[in-house]
Amino acid sequence: MSVIRYLLFTVMTTVLAFAAKESFITDDEYAKMLYKNPRGISCAKCHGEKGEGKVLTTYVSHGKEYKITAPPIYNLSMKRFKQALKRKGRLMPEYFLTEWEMAHLYYYLLTQNPDYQKNKKVKQ
Ligand code: HEC
Repeated sequence: MSVIRYLLFTVMTTVLAFAAKESFITDDEYAKMLYKNPRGISCAKCHGEKGEGKVLTTYVSHGKEYKITAPPIYNLSMKRFKQALKRKGRLMPEYFLTEWEMAHLYYYLLTQNPDYQKNKKVKQ
C-alpha cells in the first residue's frame, strides 16, 4: 500500500511541477509556440517564420511558370484574420482554434511585422 502511495505521490508531484513550469511561460512565448505548433500543421511552414508569406511551390505549364503562394498574414485586420481561420481555404487546412488561440496568434504575428516593430502600427 505504501509503495503505491509513494508512487502516486511521485507521479503527482512530477505532473504538478511540470504544470507549474508550463504555466510560467509568458504570453509572448505562448503565442510564438502556438504559431509554430498549433493543433495541426505549423502556420510557419506555409506563411513563413514571421507570417511574411511564402512561395510554396512553382510549376511550369505550357511553358509558363506559375507560383503557389501562402499570403502574408502579419498585416491583416483581426476580423479578416479570424474569418480566414474559421473557414476551409483552398489550400490552407481547417483549424479548430479557440478565440484565445486566435487572439494570441494574431498578436504574435503583429509583433513580427517590421512595420509594427518600427512604428507600433501596421498598415492594413
Ligand atoms: C498548407 C499551407 C498552409 C498552412 C499550414 C496554413 N496556411 Fe494560412 N493560408 C494558406 C494559403 C494558400 C492561403 C490563401 C487562401 C487559400 O488558398 O486557402 C492562406 C490564407 C490564410 C489567411 C487569409 C489571408 C488573407 O489575406 O485574408 C490567414 C489569416 C491565414 N492563412 C492564417 C494562417 C494561420 C494562423 C495558420 C496556422 C494556424 C495557417 N494560416 C496555416 C496556406 C496555409
